Amino acid sequence: MKGVVFTEFLGMVEQTFSADMVDDIIDDAQLPSGGAYTAVGTYPHDEMVAMVVALSRRVNLPVPDLVRAFGKHLFGRFVQAYPSFFDGVTDTFQFLSGIEDIIHAEVLKLYPDAELPRFDVEEQDEQNLTLLYHSPRHFEDLAEGLILGSIEYFGQPISLMRDASAPDRGQRFHLERRA
Ligand code: HEM
Repeated sequence: MKGVVFTEFLGMVEQTFSADMVDDIIDDAQLPSGGAYTAVGTYPHDEMVAMVVALSRRVNLPVPDLVRAFGKHLFGRFVQAYPSFFDGVTDTFQFLSGIEDIIHAEVLKLYPDAELPRFDVEEQDEQNLTLLYHSPRHFEDLAEGLILGSIEYFGQPISLMRDASAPDRGQRFHLERRA
C-alpha cells in the first residue's frame, strides 16, 4: 500500500486527536517499518490495519467507523492533491463511474506499484449507479468513506446503500438520486 495512504492516515489522527495519539498507536501497533512513512514508499497493508485497530482501542470507536471517516478525509486530500482529475467533472455518477478506467488508471501511471481495487459499474442510468468493489485487501469501509466524500464534494442529493453480496462477487454499492 502506498505511503501516501499512511501519511494521510496519521495526519488525520493528529488533526482529529493529537500528535501524542500518533506516537501511541505507532507504539501499540509494533510496526516493522517503525511508522516512518514517506508518501512515495510502499508498505504492508497489515501495518495500516494494525494502526487502525490500535486507534480503535485507544479512542473506543469501532474500526469500520474510523476507516469510513478516514475514507472521507482521504477524498478531501485527493481533491487537493490531484485537481486535474476533477477538471470538467460536475456529477457524482460521472466521477465514480470513471474510478476504474480513468482515476485509478492514471494513479497506476504515477505509481506503477500501487495496489488498487477493482470497481466495476454493474448498472447505471439517470437515477441509479451500482458499483461492485473487489479487493484482496477488503477495504470496503474505506471505499464507502471515499464514495461518501465524493457525494459530499459534488453536493448532489444522493443516497448510498451497501448490500452484502456473495463474498466472491465483491461488495455492492448502490447510489440513487433523491428528488
Ligand atoms: C482523485 C481521486 C482518487 C485518487 C487520486 C485515488 C488514488 C488512490 C491511491 C494512490 C491508492 C493507494 C494505492 C496503494 O495503496 O497502493 C488508492 C486506493 C484505493 N482507492 Fe482510490 N483514488 C481516488 C478516488 C477513489 C474513490 C472515489 C474510491 C471509491 C469509490 C476509491 C477507492 C479506493 C480504495 C478502496 C483503495 C484501497 C485499496 C484497496 O481497496 O485495495 N478511490 N486510491
